[in-house]
Order: sequence, then structure tokens, then C-alpha cells
Amino acid sequence: MSNILKSLLVGTALTAVTAAHATELEVTHWWTSGGEAVAVTKFAEAWNATGNTWVDGAIAGSGGTARPIIISRILGGDPMAATQLNHGRQAEELIEAGLLLDLTDVAEAGGWADLVNPSALLDACTLDGKIYCVPVNIHSAQWIWLSHDAYEKAGLEVPANWNEFVASAPALQDAGTLPLAMGQQGWQQNIAFGAITLAVAGLDAWKEVNINKNADVARGAEYTAAFEAVAAARSLASESNVQDWNQATNMVITGAAGGQIMGDWAQGEFAVAGAVEGEDYSCLPGLGLNPILDTGGDAFYFPVIDDADITAAQKELAALLISPQVQVDFNLAKGSLPVRGDVDLSAANGCMQKGLQILADGGVLPSSDLSFSQDTTLQIEDLMAQFWSGDMSAADAQESYAQLIEDAD
Ligand code: GAL
Repeated sequence: MSNILKSLLVGTALTAVTAAHATELEVTHWWTSGGEAVAVTKFAEAWNATGNTWVDGAIAGSGGTARPIIISRILGGDPMAATQLNHGRQAEELIEAGLLLDLTDVAEAGGWADLVNPSALLDACTLDGKIYCVPVNIHSAQWIWLSHDAYEKAGLEVPANWNEFVASAPALQDAGTLPLAMGQQGWQQNIAFGAITLAVAGLDAWKEVNINKNADVARGAEYTAAFEAVAAARSLASESNVQDWNQATNMVITGAAGGQIMGDWAQGEFAVAGAVEGEDYSCLPGLGLNPILDTGGDAFYFPVIDDADITAAQKELAALLISPQVQVDFNLAKGSLPVRGDVDLSAANGCMQKGLQILADGGVLPSSDLSFSQDTTLQIEDLMAQFWSGDMSAADAQESYAQLIEDAD
């Protein structure tokens, strides 16, 4: 038999074996911006390469739109095979209702306890000692992204921190540039609030409020300064009328705005636009004042489906998402950091390197997804939407916020 024929036969046999186990899994997520779509394709390609099929269930809009759809499908008996959520408390009720697959055996076989860094990410997937999700990235929210074009046009150096950014705003305005791009959605305004608070009120006050839910500190002087800073930022964004976060990022990419406070997923948009860090844009973690990042991010959960083939495929996908090469490919496209420290990130750009250094130095905080229930988070986001888009005073916003912290669960 010729070698070509032999290899064709071997190839056919392999295809037949794989096909016998090939499983279609519908995977839902809210990664629909240009950069996010590139990143999720890395997962889909890796899964399809195993002979299985990724049925993409992208839900347009932000997490705020997607989460209720995802949760009601699972509760309503129409589960997808896998879904993105933020790791933390978002899936708490689904786990308690027994609707999510226990991945403890996959986690043990893969040694997740030894490789997931920081370990808080795996803790966030764990309830009563069992593991219900696979963390796929570390995203942090405390960044400002700055347009070199905008500063060049105004004849200014690119700011090195939040205070310089605020001081540069009048010159940007004189040059016809909007200082701060802001999507008109509560979750984005809440991200800006959180980042400014951490930079202005400082770490201790931030921790008291966000971790210990201390309403006295939320009513105190450090938070008064933070709310005043946020009110000032509001006026720098008053002409920003875009909705989606990536539209606001696009204003920075095109130089229509000086900066945007947004999570590190913004990097995916700069990458798709071919923008180069350090030449076309800069990023300041902790707004350049406080080099501290939270460790939020995304995890995949697998609803219980009464079909042994699907269960086996779900577990195979869970193991794949955290495997070394998939972690590198996905996170480089997404702008997030991998959840395992044993992978080669030499291709990471300057912003990711800054994030990795902060992670290595231990400058990390739990994300609010870990400490606040979804109810509390949504109430805070509603307050931020009201504050940023209206004329509520800093003092009134602070009091309403302190009340939410007092009632937080
Ligand atoms: C976050 C998510 C990120 C990001 C962002 C904007 O909730 O963790 O992966 O893509 O939403 O869609």
C-alpha cells in the first residue's frame, strides 16, 4: 500500500473516531465588540480543532443585557451547554438550585488549585468545596486609556496620571476635543466611579466600603473628595453621547476624545484598529496614581444537561479553556491576563506588561463582582447612571451611595 494511501486511511479512521464523539455545544457570551469577537474566536477555533463544534450564542449588548437572558434560559429549562459570566456572585443562585455542573473532578485532574493565580479566582468558582466554573482571564477595571493624537493636537504631553489628565482638560476643550469619553450606561459610569474612588479616596477607604461594606466610611471625608472628583469628571464627559463602551473607546482611537476610563478589555479594540501602545495610545493602571488593579474577569459555567455525551463534552471544553496555549491565544487578543502563571506572555504589549507587574507585586484587589450581590450592584449602577447623566450634587450622590452600602448584601 502506498504511503499516501496509508495516511489517507489513518486520517479517515481518526476522523471517524472523532466524529463518533463529536458534540455540538452552544456557548453564550456577550463578546460582540470587534476586539471581543476576535478573542472568542480563539476559543471557538480551539474547540472546533478537537473535532467538536462550537455553536456561537453571542448576545449583543453588554453584560447587563446578556446576564438576565442567560440566567432565565437556565432557570426556564432551556439551557445552553456553556456560558460566560463574571466569576463571583452572579451564579450563586443557579448553583444553589443545582442547575450548574460540578467541575471538581476536572479541576482536580487539571491541578487548577496549584495553577490558578491569584487563587481568589478559583475561590470565586467554589461553593461548599465544589468547583462550578472555570476562570478564563483576569480583567481589571481601573485603567484610563489616552489618545496620543488628541494630546498632540492640543500641543500637550500625554498625562502621566489622573491629576494631569484633569489639568489638561481645558487645553483639550480649546482644541475642540472632548476630554473624557463615556458610554451612557450605568455599569460604565460605575467603573469610572470605582477607578476614580480608588485613586482619590485611597486603598484603605476603598476596601472598607467595597469589602467591609462600611457605610460610615462611605459617608466620610475620603469619599466626599472622591464624589467631588467624580462630579468634576462628569463635566469633562458632558458632551459624550455614545452608548456602548467600545464606541467610547473608538473616540479615543480616533482622537475625538482625550481619554476613557474603562477595563483592560479596551485593549482588544486598540489591537483591532492596529493602534500601537506607546505610540498611538497610552494606558495608566490605577489612573497613574495608585498602581492597584482588581481581579475581576470572566468564567465559564456549564448548565446541567441530562445527556452523558454532552456532560463529557462540557468537561472537555472546561479543561480546554484553561489549557496553556488557549490561555495565551485568548488573553493576548482579549487584553486580559491569563489565569495561570506558567504560560509564555513574551508577546504581551506594554499595557499587559504593566498589569502583569502589578499582579506579580501583589497589588490586587477583589472585584466588586466578588463582594456585592447582583441586586446591590444593579442599584449602585442605577445611581451612577442618574448621577452621571443629570445634575445630582456630589453630596446627594454620596448620601444615596452610603445608604446602598448600608443595605448591601
Ligand atoms: C465585562 C467582561 C469583559 C468585557 C466587558 C465588556 O463584564 O468581563 O470580558 O468584555 O464586560 O463587554
